[in-house]
Amino acid sequence: MGFNEHIYREFARLYDGEMARIGFHEKWKALFDRLRIPGKRALDLACGTGTVALELAGRGWEVEGVDASAEMLEVARGRAGSAGIRWTRGDLRTFEAGKPVDLVTCAFDSVNYLLRPEDLAACFRQVAAHLAPGGRFLFDAITPWGQRAVWGDGAARIRHGEGWFGVWEPRRLHRLSQLALTYFERDGAGAWRRWEETHTERGWSKSDLGRAARAARMEIESLWDGSTCQAPGPRAIRLHAVCRPVASGRIGI
Ligand SMILES: C[S@@+](CC[C@H](N)C(=O)[O-])C[C@H]1O[C@@H](n2cnc3c(N)ncnc32)[C@H](O)[C@@H]1O
Repeated sequence: MGFNEHIYREFARLYDGEMARIGFHEKWKALFDRLRIPGKRALDLACGTGTVALELAGRGWEVEGVDASAEMLEVARGRAGSAGIRWTRGDLRTFEAGKPVDLVTCAFDSVNYLLRPEDLAACFRQVAAHLAPGGRFLFDAITPWGQRAVWGDGAARIRHGEGWFGVWEPRRLHRLSQLALTYFERDGAGAWRRWEETHTERGWSKSDLGRAARAARMEIESLWDGSTCQAPGPRAIRLHAVCRPVASGRIGI
């Protein structure tokens, strides 16, 4: 396995509860309603605990979910409706899925865990290699501006729930942002256990994404600001994009 296989080792247990509070996946459901991408087979990259993969399966897609984290995949496998989905451990840059697919998805800033342009390009190349003719790649990415706006002020955030509390401490490192998580969880005997995880991400701009797409012989078919659903301005926090393979001979024109 590659890098990042351990980052969700602990947070996997709390991830779904935390995400439900943010409500991010509602946007993805709305996207599927709006885009109505045709096809039969889908691959959800960096599927995590499987919310997007399950949503696609519920819409009749045959789905495979790929993620680096054994713990996130374990949560996914335990969810209702997961039995018909193939869950595979793999890295965004090197994954191998069974069959060509009509749709590849990669949700919730997962491409931001790739820290170098060459990692992003490697991921896009793998996606292109897995797309059936006419297939599409639908993903989102937080922008460099978004990282500064969301994580840039360094202010810690406190999170708490039944039997746990935690602190999110953001830190800026030239081009990258880090989120240090420190959590305390009460075990069955009532004792508190402390754990820590550090998540490092890199914001990607429209031109970064365009370069990675070109390197993979794909093009960005549409791109919009995830908050406004309009063409992204310089202060877009998160971009959503659909990419498609380019017919040979058209690349670079
Ligand atoms: C913010 S979560 C998003 C999970 C899921 N897509 C969702 O919408 O809830 C980021 C996911 O990316 C995965 N990830 C990070 N780096 C990865 C890599 N190099 N290869 C595969 N998965 C990776 C993590 O394990 C985690 O499950």
